[in-house]
Parts: sequence; C-alpha cells; structure tokens
Amino acid sequence: GLPARVRVHEVGARDGLQNEKEVVPTEVKAEFVRRLAAAGLTTVEATSFVHPKWVPQLADAEELFPLVRDLRSPSGQAVHLPVLVPNERGLDRALALGATRVAVFASATESFAKANLNRTVDEALAMFEPVVARARAAGVHVRGYLSMCFGDPWEGPVPVDRVVRVCRALLDMGCDELSLGDTIGVATPGHVGALLTALAGEGVPVSALGVHFHDTYGQALANTLAALRHGVTTVDASAGGLGGCPYAKSATGNLATEDLVWMLTGLGIDTGIDLGLLTATSGWMAGHLGRPSPSRTVRALSHK
Ligand code: HMG
Ligand code: MG
Repeated sequence: GLPARVRVHEVGARDGLQNEKEVVPTEVKAEFVRRLAAAGLTTVEATSFVHPKWVPQLADAEELFPLVRDLRSPSGQAVHLPVLVPNERGLDRALALGATRVAVFASATESFAKANLNRTVDEALAMFEPVVARARAAGVHVRGYLSMCFGDPWEGPVPVDRVVRVCRALLDMGCDELSLGDTIGVATPGHVGALLTALAGEGVPVSALGVHFHDTYGQALANTLAALRHGVTTVDASAGGLGGCPYAKSATGNLATEDLVWMLTGLGIDTGIDLGLLTATSGWMAGHLGRPSPSRTVRALSHK
C-alpha cells in the first residue's frame, strides 16, 4: 500500500543554492524561503553553517537565518527550518541564532567523506558525536544525512551493508531521523527496495527514514515510488529541481518538488502544498538564476 500523507522536506534553498555558480543575494534567498513556506512547505532547509571557504554560496548564513527564523505556514504553524552543521563550530553558530533543527551529514564512502568533510568515514562520525549529543541536550531535532547510499563517483556501486553500518552509527549516536542520499542519482527502484529491506532487517524503523534522490538518470520519481511502497513517508525535494553537490562532480539536480507533488497528488496522497504557488516560486527563482527550471512539471504548468 501507499501512505495517506507524505512530508516533503524542501532542500532548494540549501542543496539547490549551494551549487549555483553565482552567489544569490541574501534578500533573494530569504524571499525564496518565505515563498516556499507560503506554498505550504512545512520543512524548508534554510542554509548551512559550514566553513565559508568550502561553500561560499552559503557564507551569509548568519545574515539569512534571522530573516526567516520566525516564519509561519499559511495554517499558522511554525515552519521547520533545519540547517546543516558539520561540527561543533557549526552547531555553536546555529544555536546562537536560535535554530531548533540541525542536520549532520555523513558519507557511506571514504572518497566522499574525504572530499566533503576532509575526514574518513569514522573520523566524520566521531566529529558528529558531540554535535548530536549537544543538540539533543538543547532540545534540538537532529537529522542525519547519509550520502552516496547507492553509488559513488570514484568508487562505483556502494554495497548495502556499508550503508547499513553508517545508518546504525548515526541512529545510535542519537539522530532523530536519517535521510538516505543518492547524491549522484544512480539509484534504480530495485536497489532502493534492497536497501530499505536490509535496514528493516536490522531493526531500523522506517518512520525514521527519509529519501533524498537526485534525478541525474531520470529515476528519482520511480525511486520515490519504490520507497513509498516500503513505508517511507518523508521525501526530500528541491523546488524547480535546483541543486547538485559541489563536492561530487557528477551530481545534477535534486528531485524537483513540483514533479514530486504532481505524482503524489495523482496518487491521492496529501502534502498540503499549493502546486500553483510553488511553480510560480520556481519560475521566479529561475528568473534570478537566469536559466529555466529543469523540472518537467514546472515547464508544463508554466506553458498553461
Ligand atoms: P577542515 O578544513 O578539516 O576544518 O574542514 P578544520 O576542522 O581543520 O578547521 C579549519 C578552520 O575552519 C578553523 O579555523 C575552524 O575554526 C574553521 P582557523 O582556526 O584555521 O581559523 N571552521 C569553521 N568555520 C565556520 N564554520 C564551521 C567551521 N568548521 C571549522 N562550521 C569542515 C572541515 C567540515 C569544516 C569542512 O570540510 C566543511 O565545511 N565542509 C562542508 C562541505 C559541505 O557543506 N558540503 C555540502 C553539503 S553535503 C551535501 O550536499 C549532500 C546532501 O545534500 C545529501 C546528498 O545529496 O547526498 C546533504
Ligand atoms: Mg543532495
């Protein structure tokens, strides 16, 4: 069966904009986040408190976060605004501004751990341990991203048992939820099913799992549907399909939120998202970036 409701975790302002060549002005980013919230997205990843030399596109995190911190959804609820923090320095910066949700980001492969965090897989996990412990002690919700869950640009296909091991470590250190990343978009639905079956076999509750697909080979929606059939109800997506990853060359855009909402709506699955407002927002952002959205749904609806 399929779930009655799916929570969309919107990553466009972070995963999308971190990969743009141009640095988007802070006020445009703030307006993007506000418009996403107004379109009904209840979780809008805002920015990253990483080293500004590593990701210059998000170096304005201190200026941006206060502009969006107190956002409310159209129904009046507080919008969740998670931010990425790689280490205690990042956590300190986030806590100083009142962040209530943070995300650490691990890798299933050594190559990407080195490229993205300048650490081995286990050194990165050791770096996250005090971050997760201190965040939880402060009542802050912690997401654990896990990159390269299916394939890696340097190492090729990634064995399921390696992914399971790092998932276990992230949950054991106290992460509230995990996001399984197909960073370079090479997954196919059978592989998604195999990983979710293996995680269930290890006693990982599916309610703690989200999926994070990139659409490099056009498989993101098929992979999402496979995950839904395995009981996943949290799906990451990026408005207009913005994104990629600066430290993984072959990564292209994330699953577009509009494509996801179109499919879910057709399946009768509630998301609370206004597709018209969302598409208009992506069109507006595409104008700022100077190129059209790669999302098929954005293009189809824009021509109506
Ligand atoms: P490092 O060079 O090993 O850092 O980088 P370090 O720990 O040796 O510290 C060096 C200097 O950086 C020190 O300053 C620190 O204070 C400073 P100094 O004493 O020399 O003056 N520093 C910081 N400054 C500000 N904020 C901080 C911070 N940390 C240290 N947080 C580090 C290690 C983790 C910092 C670096 O590798 C980094 O920032 N990496 C972030 C990379 C990134 O953001 N990648 C994109 C996100 S992951 C992703 O997109 C995948 C995902 O979407 C899922 C998927 O698709 O798979 C999530
Ligand atoms: Mg990503």
